[in-house]
Amino acid sequence: MGRDSAVLDPSREFAYTLADFERVRSMIHRHAGIALADSKRDLVYSRLARRLRALDIETFRRYLDQLEQAPESDEWEHFTNALTTNLTSFFREAHHFDILRDQLRSLPPGKRILIWCCAASTGEEPYSIAMTACEAFGRLDPPVSILATDIATDVLDTAQRGVYAMERVESLSKERLKKFFLRGGGSNEGQVKVVDALKRLVTFRQLNLLEPHWGLKGPFSALFCRNIMIYFDKPTQAEILQRFVPLIADGGHLYMGHSETLSNPPGNIQSIGRTTYRKRSVVRS
Ligand SMILES: C[S@@+](CC[C@H](N)C(=O)[O-])C[C@H]1O[C@@H](n2cnc3c(N)ncnc32)[C@H](O)[C@@H]1O
Repeated sequence: MGRDSAVLDPSREFAYTLADFERVRSMIHRHAGIALADSKRDLVYSRLARRLRALDIETFRRYLDQLEQAPESDEWEHFTNALTTNLTSFFREAHHFDILRDQLRSLPPGKRILIWCCAASTGEEPYSIAMTACEAFGRLDPPVSILATDIATDVLDTAQRGVYAMERVESLSKERLKKFFLRGGGSNEGQVKVVDALKRLVTFRQLNLLEPHWGLKGPFSALFCRNIMIYFDKPTQAEILQRFVPLIADGGHLYMGHSETLSNPPGNIQSIGRTTYRKRSVVRS
């Protein structure tokens, strides 16, 4: 028996080999662009073991065979949901929201401002954008529409509900809590709910950044693409970045995650510091 086909830990509930891990790695890379490190071997087991249990399948090999043989199956959604990392928080990397507030205030009045948050996870990021927009315009109905997308459908369901455990909002100011959240009572004790006015500013939609067509027109005055590029390999990052450029409005901003500094930004994208980039306005003669 080859090393790759040896069962890694016979005490486990489901047979799982190194070859299975390599297969998962290549499947999620092809499907979602996610490059899983060697260190994720055990994590992959625990995340997918739940699916094998739910489907009553005894080995990873059989589970992966079934998945590969059914490219249209709903199981791909569960597979993807299980393997994505959805860590996020309200006003994460807070400096971006200060920059956004100033940016929104400086835009000429008139047109509705479009913002795309392309890895929205459980919603904390798009709702932080929405709160910033309300604060920038001093009203609960600012002229802003936020498109919040993610590949994972389970996190989008949470985002759409807008219900969070109290601990998730503990770091927010009293003023924000009061203005933007409703406190749950009775069986909802310990939870808060985003107010409807904030929800109205955000549209949630499933979107895989690897899809060849996103079906988006833009142009977006701000594009939040934070803490997702790190999961992609360099060619995938470069390709997605190139596809962002025409969707960003002239003078619009691209917000990246703290460890996602662009070493080689496309020609008309320039750094304005703190992992924030600006698309140069085209001077028309
Ligand atoms: C670590 S979270 C970042 C959340 C948020 N942007 C933040 O910075 O707090 C990364 C998100 O990217 C999503 N994701 C992973 N691969 C994706 C893809 N190919 N297309 C769209 N979203 C993807 C995951 O589902 C996850 O919710």
